[in-house]
Amino acid sequence: MPQDTLTITDNRTGQSYTLPVENGTIRAMDLRKIKTAPEDFGLMTYDPAFMNTASCRSAITYIDGDRGILRYRGYPIDVLAQHCTYLEVAYLLLFGELPNPSQLKNWVDDITHHTMLHETTKKFMEGFRYNAHPMAILVSTVAALSTVYPDAKNIHDPENRLLQIKRLIGKMPSIAAMSYRHIVGFPYIYPDNDLTYTENFMNMLWKMVEPKYVANPVIARALDILFILHADHEQNCSTNAMRAVGSSHSDPYLATAAAAAALSGPLHGGANEEVLHMLDEIGSKDHVPAYIKKIKEGKGRLMGFGHRVYKNYDPRAKIIKWAADQVFEVTGRNTKLEIALELERIALEDDYFVSRKLYPNVDFYSGIMYQAMGFKPEMFTVLFAIPRTIGWLAQWQEMLTDPEQKIARPRQVWIGHETREFVAIEKRAALAAK
Ligand code: CMC
Repeated sequence: MPQDTLTITDNRTGQSYTLPVENGTIRAMDLRKIKTAPEDFGLMTYDPAFMNTASCRSAITYIDGDRGILRYRGYPIDVLAQHCTYLEVAYLLLFGELPNPSQLKNWVDDITHHTMLHETTKKFMEGFRYNAHPMAILVSTVAALSTVYPDAKNIHDPENRLLQIKRLIGKMPSIAAMSYRHIVGFPYIYPDNDLTYTENFMNMLWKMVEPKYVANPVIARALDILFILHADHEQNCSTNAMRAVGSSHSDPYLATAAAAAALSGPLHGGANEEVLHMLDEIGSKDHVPAYIKKIKEGKGRLMGFGHRVYKNYDPRAKIIKWAADQVFEVTGRNTKLEIALELERIALEDDYFVSRKLYPNVDFYSGIMYQAMGFKPEMFTVLFAIPRTIGWLAQWQEMLTDPEQKIARPRQVWIGHETREFVAIEKRAALAAK
């Protein structure tokens, strides 16, 4: 018998089945052969929240959660964070190879020339309520781009796909910055093509009356590093949303809006904002033990801790801690850092967190750093969405070009009623009273 197989004996029938094992997986469809009778539907797997189901084959991002390893296209995340710009990494994620100097120049030029928003999009954004959450503005505006670029529905044309991808990468910082200017009531600032990707984002966020915005190079580089760390993270909740929505062949603006909506939740990208609220609630270092006690009693979660895949220190959190030191040299230490360090110290010694392998994740320190850089907490998840856009789009393209992929459509285990007898409305009250 070939070695790479799995033999299953169905104790209901006594029959044995041999299934091939490939890349450490069996094909769920092979289980359908396992039946108790010819008319039986066949065996399925039940896996709420996809705890142990691979939904695709991918060559983009590799994670070994037990060993705390993260690589994009084979390159360790720390090496990329140290040597590359965000746009260089975006190119790598999309095309699979690092760009040479002329490829990078053309790519950066292309992205830079797609940063402008159509004036109608600007007007659309002006319509949001003054206190709208910037993440909700971003989700809605990205979806609205579908009305500006109806050609985006030609998703099977590779050239067209690339054009939409460039538009999205270019426009995300513009939408994000305008969502911020909107809530603070400042006029929107147009992109400045002389600046780098992150410098231009800072320009659109913070330029006031000066004729030319000059970004602090340390902050611009730190933001670039944060963008690299957030660019992709294999099959997380928002990427799964991108692939699932994209699998019905909706256009990339609508699929990206769906992915951003998934990101906004507090268990995913929304956690960075929640970390700041949590640190505010704790208030001072002395209150940390009491807060940890509360969490252990099941009253809430330690935000920025734990991960579905990492059962070790999140490698991104390590790099953020290092980059934060550079930022604090310019901005001064954020007072919340002390509380966060104390939380981490106590949690990493506490059996509750140790036994559950709960370590700080990417969101634990990013918020503190963003706040020191001058961002409002409402902007934190938006700062996650900008760089994650290339990850979503690279995964979307991989899904569309994978001949094995089809419209995503899970099965269910039926736990409801069998056929019921209809009761006319006038008889229902009487029935309920019985
Ligand atoms: N604080 C306290 N307990 C926790 C935490 C936490 N942050 N995370 C998990 N646990 C406990 C949980 O109660 C459970 O305990 P028990 O076995 O006694 O019931 C155990 O650890 C396993 O938790 P789980 O909910 O089954 O784990 P999961 O893989 O479904 O959830 C998670 C992963 C990230 C949603 C979760 O750890 C969490 O809610 N963390 C806080 C939110 C957060 O920081 N999210 C950002 C994730 S990283 C970036 C991103 O994805 O955007």
